[in-house]
Amino acid sequence: MDKKIILGIETSCDETAAAVVDSGTKIISNIVASQASLHATFGGIVPEVASRQHILAISTVINAAMSEAEMKINDLDGIAVTYGPGLAGSLLVGLNAAKGLSFGSSVPLLPVNHLEGHVYATWLNESNKLEEIDFPLLCLIVSGGHTDLALMSAHGQFKLINRTRDDAAGEAFDKAARVLGLGYPGGPEIQKAAEKAKGTEKPFPRPKVKNSNDFSFSGLKTSLIQRAVDKRIYPREDDTCVDSELVNEISFAFQEAVVDTLVDRTLKVASELSVKGIIVSGGVAANSCLRSRIEEKSPLPVVMPKPALCTDNGAMIASAGYFKFKELPLTKWDLDILPGLRIGEQGF
Ligand SMILES: Nc1ncnc2c1ncn2[C@@H]1O[C@H](COP(=O)(O)OP(=O)(O)OP(=O)(O)O)[C@@H](O)[C@H]1O
Ligand SMILES: [Mg+2]
Repeated sequence: MDKKIILGIETSCDETAAAVVDSGTKIISNIVASQASLHATFGGIVPEVASRQHILAISTVINAAMSEAEMKINDLDGIAVTYGPGLAGSLLVGLNAAKGLSFGSSVPLLPVNHLEGHVYATWLNESNKLEEIDFPLLCLIVSGGHTDLALMSAHGQFKLINRTRDDAAGEAFDKAARVLGLGYPGGPEIQKAAEKAKGTEKPFPRPKVKNSNDFSFSGLKTSLIQRAVDKRIYPREDDTCVDSELVNEISFAFQEAVVDTLVDRTLKVASELSVKGIIVSGGVAANSCLRSRIEEKSPLPVVMPKPALCTDNGAMIASAGYFKFKELPLTKWDLDILPGLRIGEQGF
C-alpha cells in the first residue's frame, strides 16, 4: 500500500493521546497526557473526572502531535480515532474532536477498535520479527479492562476465542496493589515490589475455568485479600506502617500466579489453533515477568510492543487505522461511540 500519514487520537480511558504515524509502522510524533496522578488520589479511575480532563487536554495534545510532526491537517491521509470499547464520556471527547477535524479538512475519519489498536502497537517496533511470521497469529490482549485471546487471520481480521469471565488481569493487579497499600496504577507497583522478593511466600492457586480456556481472576483476588487479612496487613488504617518485605513477597506470589495463568493458557490455545506466532499486547504486556516467561516457554515466535507502547497511546490507533482501512472508506458522520465493543466487532 502507498505511504499514508495518519493522525491517531485515543481517549478511551485515562490517557489523552495523539500521534502521527507513517504507513502504519513509523512514529513521527507521539504525545500522551496521562491522568494517572489525578486518579491516584482515588485509587482508581473516576469516569467523570476522566472525561472532563480529556476536554481540557485534547486540543493541546493534538496540536502538540501535529507540531512535533511539523505537519498541517491537510498533510494527513486519515484521522484514526478510538470509538470503543472504553468509558462513554471519555470516548465522546476523542470521537468528537476527530469528527470536527475531519469535517473541517475533508481528511477521512477512520474508526478504530481500541483493542485492535493494542495489537497494532506491535507493528510500531523498530526491528520487527513480525516480518518473518505469517498469519494466523494468536493475540493475547491483556489490559486494564480486558483479557482476551483473539485469532488474527489477516490484517484487520480478528475473532474472539477466549476472554475473562470476570476481572481483567490489569484490574486484578490494580486491586491487589490497593489491598497491599501500593500505588495506582497497580501493575508497575506490584512488579517493582516483586523484584525485591526472595520468593518465600506460599504460592497462590492458578485459577482455571472448568471445561474452558477462558480466564478468571476474581478467585485469585479473593485469595490475595484472604492472605492479607490472615497476615494482618489488611484492612488497615491509612497511617499504619506496612511490613514492606511481606508486601514484596505477596506481590511476587500474586504476579507469578497471574503470569503463569496467562502464559500457560495462551500457549495451550496457540497449540490447539495451530497458529504461526503469538502477539502479547495491552498495558499488562509491559510486565517484565510476563515478557520473559512467555518468550522462555513458547515454542512459537512471540512479538510484543516495546513497554512504553503497551499502555494507551495514539500511535497504535493510527497504525490500526492504516492497516484496517487500506481503501479509505467514506467518512461516517453518524458514527457513535460503542463502549462495550469487542475485538473483531465493528458494531456499525
Ligand atoms: N508493568 C506492568 N505490570 C503489570 N501490569 C501493568 C504494568 N504496566 C501497566 N499495567 C497495567 O495495565 C493496565 C493499563 O493498561 P491499558 O492502558 O492498556 O488499559 P486500559 O486502556 O485502561 O484498558 P482497556 O485497554 O482494556 O480498555 C493497568 O491495569 C495497569 O496496572
Ligand atoms: Mg487500553
